[in-house]
Amino acid sequence: MIVIDGPAELSGELKVQGAKNSTLPLLAATVLCRGQTVLHNCPRLSDVDTAVRILEHLGSRCHWEEGSLVVDNSMTCCQVPPDLMRGMRSSIVFLGAIVSRCGEAELTFPGGCELGPRPIDLHIEALEKLGVEIQESGGCLHCRAPEGIQGTYISLSFPSVGATENVILASVCSQGTTIIANAAREPEIIDLCAYLNRCGGRVYGAGESCVIIDGVKELFGCEHTVMPDRIATVTYMAAAAVTGGNVTLRDVDNTHILPMLSPFEQAGCSVRQLGRALNIMAPRRLNAVRHIRTMPYPGFPTDAQPVVMSMAAVGRGTSIFVENIFENRYKHAEGLQRLGAKIKVEGKVAIVEGVEQLRGAPVTACDLRGGAALVVAGLAAQGRTLVEGEEHIRRGYEDLAGSLADLGARIREVEDSPGKME
Ligand code: UD1
Repeated sequence: MIVIDGPAELSGELKVQGAKNSTLPLLAATVLCRGQTVLHNCPRLSDVDTAVRILEHLGSRCHWEEGSLVVDNSMTCCQVPPDLMRGMRSSIVFLGAIVSRCGEAELTFPGGCELGPRPIDLHIEALEKLGVEIQESGGCLHCRAPEGIQGTYISLSFPSVGATENVILASVCSQGTTIIANAAREPEIIDLCAYLNRCGGRVYGAGESCVIIDGVKELFGCEHTVMPDRIATVTYMAAAAVTGGNVTLRDVDNTHILPMLSPFEQAGCSVRQLGRALNIMAPRRLNAVRHIRTMPYPGFPTDAQPVVMSMAAVGRGTSIFVENIFENRYKHAEGLQRLGAKIKVEGKVAIVEGVEQLRGAPVTACDLRGGAALVVAGLAAQGRTLVEGEEHIRRGYEDLAGSLADLGARIREVEDSPGKME
């Protein structure tokens, strides 16, 4: 668990990690590339470990060279075992890559954060249009592409990030041209396509809602630097905000942060973007963050909703959240309430009446970003907060507690009951 003695006042500088949501599809993409790939700025996360175990199971050799992950691709197998599939939701993006490379793939339904139903119907429909035959039996997906992947026109009924990545991965080495209409526009898709194009792919329009993929015969591994993690960035910004802090974050892509700036401005923070750095200075007491509606990029990201709710919990006035992406993404509200926050949840809406002071208490992280929100709130709370379920947080943050401690918070990870640590 993570133990926080608050309230903290954060100050100093921090380098932001590489993006988890970019690294996972990039690792799936290495399946398509002959030879060696070196991913620089690769974050050390338990989800990345899971992806590495999937790659090793498939026959690749992976090793770390300081902050870089080296993947030597050699496929000997086209199955992903159920325990690795259950480890995380994005294991499903391996499907497109494996079936394209091997002509077949066998895997089970993916796991990941419990954010309500997370179907994969869009992935399956799109892959079937590309010529993949998919049969399901007992939770196992048997996939075959007897004629190879055939380029086609795919119109997604929702701009799903994972489905867009899966279609790109399946079709980059294919016969013909694939056009994706209503593709997801998230920056992580741009990063994936930049890597694929550097490996010899011909993908156009990444970051726009129409992506065109001219199939090529083969790809060759290359060196690539993973983009900065925009959700980790906003997490540290929220931590600075709730503590009246003054923090500079380095290795930030400031264009990716723009859709998330409004609540910080509403709350009265001064945010200065300077090249690849961002400085945030927060007032003693925040204002309400007002109105947050989660939307696909370039709207406000659902992954940033929990940490911004921690800001709203201590802001002066009422804030309203509307969660439009996932059905069950307010689990952190219960933990925040335990810390003294006033939150009412009605379906996809949450109304937060900011309080002057939160009080430390034992709470449990139920998912990755919800866990980060509890840590952020714990920094603002008077007294000791214990956040259990740290394994969720480790899925997406390299060293959340250590980084916050470097900024001056009294926070640490403990294996055992914190009483014994005194
Ligand atoms: C990715 C991110 C996750 C982020 C989410 C939305 C990764 C590893 N994860 O998840 O952190 O919260 O984007 O920005 O990149 N849906 C369907 N059918 C499908 C696929 C999706 O109904 O076949 C629905 C989902 O249930 C959800 C919505 O579409 O309600 C968005 O899902 P999607 O964009 O696919 O998110 P992920 O790729 O799973």
